[in-house]
Amino acid sequence: MGILSNLRGSRTQQGLALTDGSPPSASVSNKKKWSNLMPLVVALVVIAEIAFLCRLDMAKNAAFFDSWPEMFYKSPPSGEVEVLATPVTESCEEWLEREDAVVYSKILARIPSGFPGAEQEWKTCAVSCKFGYDPSKKIDAAFGLPQPLGVASVLRSMESASYYSENNIAQARGRGYNIVMTTSLSSDVPVGYFSWAEYDIMAPVMPKTETALAAAFISNCGARNFRLEALVGLENANIKIDSYGGCHRNRDGRVDKVEALKRYKFSLAFENSNEEDYVTEKFFQSLVAGTVPVVVGAPNIEDFAPSPGSILHIKELEDVQLVAKRMKYLAENPDAYNQSLRWKYEGPSDSFKALVDMAAVHSSCRLCIHLATDIREKEEKSSDVKKRPCKCTRGSETVYHLYVRERGRFEMDSIFLRSGNLTLEALEAAVLMRFKYLKHVPVWKDERPESIRGGDELKVHRIYPVGLTQRQALYTFKFKGDTDLRSYIENNPCAKFEVIFV
Ligand SMILES: *[C@@H]1O[C@H](CO)[C@@H](O)[C@H](O)[C@H]1NC(C)=O
Ligand SMILES: *[C@@H]1O[C@H](CO)[C@@H](O)[C@H](O)[C@H]1NC(C)=O
Repeated sequence: MGILSNLRGSRTQQGLALTDGSPPSASVSNKKKWSNLMPLVVALVVIAEIAFLCRLDMAKNAAFFDSWPEMFYKSPPSGEVEVLATPVTESCEEWLEREDAVVYSKILARIPSGFPGAEQEWKTCAVSCKFGYDPSKKIDAAFGLPQPLGVASVLRSMESASYYSENNIAQARGRGYNIVMTTSLSSDVPVGYFSWAEYDIMAPVMPKTETALAAAFISNCGARNFRLEALVGLENANIKIDSYGGCHRNRDGRVDKVEALKRYKFSLAFENSNEEDYVTEKFFQSLVAGTVPVVVGAPNIEDFAPSPGSILHIKELEDVQLVAKRMKYLAENPDAYNQSLRWKYEGPSDSFKALVDMAAVHSSCRLCIHLATDIREKEEKSSDVKKRPCKCTRGSETVYHLYVRERGRFEMDSIFLRSGNLTLEALEAAVLMRFKYLKHVPVWKDERPESIRGGDELKVHRIYPVGLTQRQALYTFKFKGDTDLRSYIENNPCAKFEVIFV
């Protein structure tokens, strides 16, 4: 058993250390303040640490694989190899598990201090990222690099690309950034304003005691969208608005924003730009407060709604009249109004949960995972790695070896699909069976409010190939039936999937 378990052991051996070198910028003292920063541009250095021993290990293992048939037919050199006497009855699954295994190198990364999350505890990150780089230890110089895996540069910003065009993904790539982290769900590692930890989203609804219909906290009347015109439009439509911000102020602004919002039926969540996925605390605070958000902002704001019919959207200036009418209707019909807040009592939609759950894993940890995944991908493709079979045919049946992990985790688990049953249903069933067997606890379990954590059962929301953006994963990607899945698996040996549980 010795050799086999050694192989398994070394296969999972990895570690990504994110360490910081330069002095901290003033930015990190308060993590909620990140959002207010100018785009934070960080160069991230990724170095593959392949120590001599590690190399030797790999060589040894490769030799072991190469000589497999010989070892099988010759008498074993030591008792340790006893287990090899049984491969005839070995299942396709066992054979694939062994043959497809890759011995990965260790990964070491360094990031400058000041990178968000650098000061946080990293107990929960799936790649055991280590912050707190000791500059006296020149890690990058200490290890020889047979094949440098290169330097990754990262752009991280929570500002809208309308104001900071450099945050536009295509532009950032054009300027040489390998990894873009913005509010866009199409960026490599999205950094949203949302999270269960920062917003008590399931806080109870309070009585609506104010006479004005809506509250507004708009500090700046100038913006690169029509939010000022929308405000004026609502006022002209006789919607009474209490304005606490600098723009059209008629109430004293020195209040607790969320507490104030709770007393209003509606909240004007007007962003400064209408950009896909750019949804800030204005919106999420409205949800916490149990007030119906009236949104000027992201054209796809419905993707962020806690349930259908829970928000009002002024998509274009022409919508103001209709939205004003709807506000009046809801204000006069308590039952209809209460329907808009039904999610507060019954819980938000799976789609909303799946979105906010993304933030259960800190963006810097997701960055580690992203980098480490890329590096492993390269290693699997490198010529050092023996060609992996990834499928096993016996008689008329082929068994396909697939890998799956939960979104937010790093290590992959094996699942197997049979050619006679290469269907979406079988894929989901195999995933569920595997994770149930592992008694898997979803990565968001401790983050979500207790009332919407659910029981121990696992429910699959999405299964998608590793490498898709979150926009694709959550909203746009779907296998077009079983044929599509089959061709994907046939064209992507040892295909890797990510699963989102809700
Ligand atoms: C709103 O609906 C919930 C159930 O969906 C109910 O518990 C609550 O009492 C209702 N509130 C009002 C003010 O009608
Ligand atoms: C195919 O897989 C599904 C889901 O696991 C299962 O219900 C069904 O019985 C399988 N069909 C065959 C022919 O094995």
